[in-house]
Amino acid sequence: MSYFVTGTDTGVGKTLVSCALLHAFAGQGKRVVGFKPVAAGCDDDGHNEDAKHLREAGTVRASYGQINPYCLPQPIAPHLSARHVGARIDFSRIFASYDELAGQSDEVIVEGVGGFCVPLNEKQDSVDLVKQLAIPVILVVGMRLGCLNHALLTMRAIADAQIECAGWVANVLHADMPALQENIDALRERILVPLLGVIPFQAQPDAREAAIHLNMSLFVRPESDA
Ligand SMILES: Nc1ncnc2c1ncn2[C@@H]1O[C@H](COP(=O)(O)OP(=O)(O)O)[C@@H](O)[C@H]1O
Ligand SMILES: [Mg+2]
Repeated sequence: MSYFVTGTDTGVGKTLVSCALLHAFAGQGKRVVGFKPVAAGCDDDGHNEDAKHLREAGTVRASYGQINPYCLPQPIAPHLSARHVGARIDFSRIFASYDELAGQSDEVIVEGVGGFCVPLNEKQDSVDLVKQLAIPVILVVGMRLGCLNHALLTMRAIADAQIECAGWVANVLHADMPALQENIDALRERILVPLLGVIPFQAQPDAREAAIHLNMSLFVRPESDA
């Protein structure tokens, strides 16, 4: 089983929450692996930071290339980053890696790139990718000014695409966000899927520590009812 972790924007905590989910599921004795189909921006070693974090947080052995089939050099919009190196993001390559990972694990945590509607090539975007992967989405809301609009717009896009949403996570990006609890309450009143956790601001972000704040009892799968 898998989840696609999307966010209200880039830099809102998708990687932190994805790694926290990997630790939480691993703690339940599950074989888990992270997947970053598309990354824009790589280190000197030609690998992407997010993908490296995901790889470390998983329990299944997988090659870097399986975990991150598209590692595009420039940290810009992915379809542009691909174009700049004469490449094109092809979904079939993503599905091939995904199937390999899914075959070896109980849970695949897929981290999106950017926000939910980001273009991936000239015709397809991240919404198309999630639809075709046919897995539920988890929305990470980076708690900062503007997040109510971003969160509600993203929820609307998820609903419009008829994609299942397993819930949302409030990730506190700043130590002193004004009216934090009122903002969380405003989203709880308007978002019908469960709030899976509130990750506090961490002076030194740590995915294992973040995992403690996820309410794993809310991760119910239809299969478990059978
Ligand atoms: N709860 C938090 N407290 C403090 N810093 C955080 C928190 N969540 C994320 N960050 C920091 O914010 C930045 C963006 O987080 P990241 O998980 O990489 O976001 P994304 O994957 O959405 O781009 C990182 O430097 C990360 O360490
Ligand atoms: Mg990330």
